[in-house]
Amino acid sequence: MPSRPTFMTKSSAPGKIILFGEHAVVYGRPALAVPVNQVQAEVEVFDSARPGIWIEAPAIDLHAELNTLPSDQPIAAVIHNFLFLARLSRFPDLEIKISSTIPVASGLGSGAAVTVSLTRALASHLNYPMTDEELNAFAYEIEKLHHGTPSGIDNTVVTYAKPVYFVKGQPLELFKVGKPFTIVIADTGISAPTKESVGDVRRLWIHDRSRWETVFDKIGEISFTARRAIEAGKPELLGELMDENHALLQKLTVSSPELDQLVEAARKAGALGAKLSGGGRGGNTIALVEPDAAETVASALKEAGAKNTIITQVL
Ligand code: PMV
Repeated sequence: MPSRPTFMTKSSAPGKIILFGEHAVVYGRPALAVPVNQVQAEVEVFDSARPGIWIEAPAIDLHAELNTLPSDQPIAAVIHNFLFLARLSRFPDLEIKISSTIPVASGLGSGAAVTVSLTRALASHLNYPMTDEELNAFAYEIEKLHHGTPSGIDNTVVTYAKPVYFVKGQPLELFKVGKPFTIVIADTGISAPTKESVGDVRRLWIHDRSRWETVFDKIGEISFTARRAIEAGKPELLGELMDENHALLQKLTVSSPELDQLVEAARKAGALGAKLSGGGRGGNTIALVEPDAAETVASALKEAGAKNTIITQVL
């Protein structure tokens, strides 16, 4: 019989998109990422009368006690690492409920959002205060377990839930949005592991470093210019920068016919610019739109094959 929960702690974390700079960010160039609050991961932690740590994550059909899961299962890995970090004298008896509206493996940061919300909920429930900096470092270690050589941009934007100008290994730089702007996100419905596209880019780079360093430099300049435009309240300048960034991502071989089709459809429907966002090959595209064109562009994207669209304001 299920135990009756007594005390509960709740935490949530948003999804994210990369506006500019994916892939080049792995090679030290700047990238810009912003939270997407329309989609969230949410975690509830309850004291439990039944022994053990019981996890319920219906979206991935997970209903299990922690010790029955392989230790590298992503949720189990977060809990084990947290218990190790907090050096608890005895393991607590808990029920953990995890739900998320962030599409999985599509570049919207679902893994990082579950890690961050789960760690925050555990830290608060078990009285182990963590600063955002500590939480971010913890989440980065978890990202490394699953993604090989992540830049750390996902865990950073999800932890701080604010626009970030991210340079790998450098202190956090948040930036201000001078004038809000509207983005339409469109999902190809194709899940594509970031690890693979990152690995393919690495192979290209190993074979011809100077050629690809030049491409990374161009992408880095785009991120730099984009930040200035956003801060100066001139988001309309971002459209052309998105188009340029997408062309460079095509060169890097991380686009796909489906992504290109959505990018084209968005531009034809009146978007000011569009690009793939994240690891590429599948996942999402983003398009900059005037607010009153958002619905039209979203419908055009659906007609062009998008499985889902999200209209979000960057504030
Ligand atoms: O696919 P996403 O949204 O997790 O983004 C990956 C971004 C890359 O630059 C391709 C990789 C990284 O670790 O920064």
